Amino acid sequence: MSENENHERSTVSVIGLGQMGTRLAQAFLTAGYATTVWNRSAAKADALVVQGAVRATTLEGAVSASPLVVVCLPDYATVGELLGPVAVRLRGRALVNLTSGTPEDAAGMADWAAGNGAGYLDGAAMSGTRLVGRPEALFVFSGSPDVFATHRTVLASLGHSAHLGADPALAPVYDTALFGMVWGALAGFYHAVALVGSAGVAPAAFAAVATEHMPFVTSLMADHARQIEEGRFPDDDGTVEVHAAAMEHLLDTSRGRGLGTDVPELIGSLLKRAAATGHGSSGIASVVGTITKGERHA
Ligand SMILES: NC(=O)c1ccc[n+]([C@@H]2O[C@H](COP(=O)([O-])OP(=O)(O)OC[C@H]3O[C@@H](n4cnc5c(N)ncnc54)[C@H](OP(=O)(O)O)[C@@H]3O)[C@@H](O)[C@H]2O)c1
Repeated sequence: MSENENHERSTVSVIGLGQMGTRLAQAFLTAGYATTVWNRSAAKADALVVQGAVRATTLEGAVSASPLVVVCLPDYATVGELLGPVAVRLRGRALVNLTSGTPEDAAGMADWAAGNGAGYLDGAAMSGTRLVGRPEALFVFSGSPDVFATHRTVLASLGHSAHLGADPALAPVYDTALFGMVWGALAGFYHAVALVGSAGVAPAAFAAVATEHMPFVTSLMADHARQIEEGRFPDDDGTVEVHAAAMEHLLDTSRGRGLGTDVPELIGSLLKRAAATGHGSSGIASVVGTITKGERHA
């Protein structure tokens, strides 16, 4: 098939068919959208072609094939190097970049796209590859509200697609913030699995109880967000001092069982610093002040 035949024949083009790009293309195909694909190593498109994708033989052809161009590569430098020579083809199209990077990367790419007459959305896939195409998969986007409004139905085939605002840097800010939050929860979970394991409890048995407990944890988020906005930290969920003491119990118990103490030490040091800077009798959400002010020394 020539690239001319390929011209504007698809709804969406996907450039970069690694682990994530392949799943993105599959989700668009599953939702019934005509999808053109391109990858540096052409063989990675084979399975997608069997599923109905159109293989572009050149990058230029891939960009020209659709009004919506989704790119997913290892980093922004690669995106810039790859798309630079075909930038003229992006004019009048929407570029959606699901490559991971920094807020500065996103701002720079948005400027570059605007300079080439393309609409731009930065984005981040928050739920790994397994859930892509299902409503539980979170995709965050930021940048042109018009581009999001025009293509939101197509982007919704990836999962729950949220537009965070017009600033393209917001997507990587959320990406890194949510990544850190998930790791905070998982680090706590892994420590807990090790601790209950020392008492002979199987990981799956603990996970079942822990999962039941999570709605309580998530319910705290909305409450504590309101407290942080209001700058008032009632002690309904315990004070910083009470939680610091409880964290010492976790530390002692972990030490006593010969476990690593990295996780409780990290949280304990945050609580201790908050107490040392005058928040001991405040509610625990007051630790956000210790973080935002960078109060490092007790
Ligand atoms: N995988 C995940 O679970 C996940 C989750 C969230 C976000 N992400 C983000 O998604 C992006 C892609 O990740 P991935 O897991 O899909 O990576 P990956 O499996 O390593 O795939 C990388 C892709 O980039 C292409 N590529 C690399 N260098 C290139 C170059 N110089 N020119 C042209 N193409 C090039 C590769 O092409 P070849 O096939 O020719 O090598 C391949 O298609 C990353 O920014 C990652 O942080 C990934």
